[in-house]
Amino acid sequence: MALLKIARMGHPVLLGRAEPVQEPGSPAIRQLIEDMIETMHDASGAGLAAPQVHVPLRLFVYHVPAQRSTGDDDPPREVDALINPVLTPIGDEMTTCTEGCLSIPGLRGAVPRPARIRYEGLDRNGQAVSGEASGFLAVVLQHEQDHLDGILYPMRMTDLSRLGYETEYARFGMGVGA
Ligand code: NI
Repeated sequence: MALLKIARMGHPVLLGRAEPVQEPGSPAIRQLIEDMIETMHDASGAGLAAPQVHVPLRLFVYHVPAQRSTGDDDPPREVDALINPVLTPIGDEMTTCTEGCLSIPGLRGAVPRPARIRYEGLDRNGQAVSGEASGFLAVVLQHEQDHLDGILYPMRMTDLSRLGYETEYARFGMGVGA
């Protein structure tokens, strides 16, 4: 187990397109996932993508903490990985959540995204998984998937007046969403 260094906005590894994982379930990938989970927890994050730890591969780890669950359609989830993910929006409904990112420490911003998605990929054991997501899970999956395509959440924002420091949002309110 090891804590990994997290790349911060401005590092080019965050802007590249990551490559598919060729050997899901291999010891090297399992070790990477274990280290990413440890790193995510240490940094109090809800998700962490491999490019954020300087590994340009298509995988991320995530969870839905109980306090972030938004209801019966979005229950708390234990930590898992999603390898070589494919996300597909369901319907036209959009939602706006206030997001943060371990690569952009201290800031938060309101990001519009599809409210419901279908996801497919492989879990931490290399087994196929799929399902539908809404609420916080849909947001975290889309945020992490974006990292695999070199997209950071400010690049998705439509109103930069809603980008700010989390300390100020805590004092003055952060508007819509989580
Ligand atoms: Ni992020």
